[in-house]
Amino acid sequence: MNLKETLNWRYTAKEFDTTKKISDTDIEQVKALLRMSPSSTNIQPWHFIIAETKEGKERIAKGTQGFFHFNEPKVLNASHVVLFCSRITADEDYMQHVLEVEDKDGRFPNEDIKKGMYSGRNIFADIHKYDLKDLQHWMEKQVYLNIGGFLLGVASLGIDATPMEGIDVKALDEEFGLRAKGFTAVAAVSIGYRAESDFNSTDKTPKSRLPESEVFTNI
Ligand SMILES: Cc1cc2nc3c(=O)[nH]c(=O)nc-3n(C[C@H](O)[C@H](O)[C@H](O)COP(=O)(O)O)c2cc1C
Repeated sequence: MNLKETLNWRYTAKEFDTTKKISDTDIEQVKALLRMSPSSTNIQPWHFIIAETKEGKERIAKGTQGFFHFNEPKVLNASHVVLFCSRITADEDYMQHVLEVEDKDGRFPNEDIKKGMYSGRNIFADIHKYDLKDLQHWMEKQVYLNIGGFLLGVASLGIDATPMEGIDVKALDEEFGLRAKGFTAVAAVSIGYRAESDFNSTDKTPKSRLPESEVFTNI
């Protein structure tokens, strides 16, 4: 499939085929998608809980109770579910940690470049912490960027997905003790393979998007 075909092939799966499981080889690629996503200043302010077992998916389904019950089957019947979590803050220990990982990965030919990276990342973080006062929001934006790449990436592997903001973030933070670890749940994405009966498949329900004339300004 070329890119346009992949874009038209993918849609938000509303019903998964419970008999199909994503192979271990594909899960390795899925994990690479999550880990290799770009982020501003390479801050990587995320953590991913990947549920594969029935028990794991039931734990994530604790976030699809009450008002969010419409998403429960999408969690329980998927092959895997990824819970995207964002950092709550980026303290000095974390900034040093990212820097040291980059150093180990060979990013810095000399100490000056390493210092430059440290101060550059801190300048950006400080703009969000002090000037814009949206540090947590900024980090969450990086997580959303990851989700965007993830949705297209899994589609390129022929894997269906359901992005879900309709989750009880507080319940999931409690279930996984996220706040104490410096994280909070942002969104979940179920992945697997579409059921033939899925009403939302593009052969039954065509996609809808705003027209080109509205969304592009060509200059
Ligand atoms: C961030 C985000 C959150 C979403 N949350 C939900 C959700 O909780 N439940 C659901 O069934 N679909 C959810 N969707 C799916 C959207 O409704 C869907 O992407 C949109 O209608 C476009 O359709 P398509 O994905 O089939 O192309 C979400 C999509 C995104 C990107």
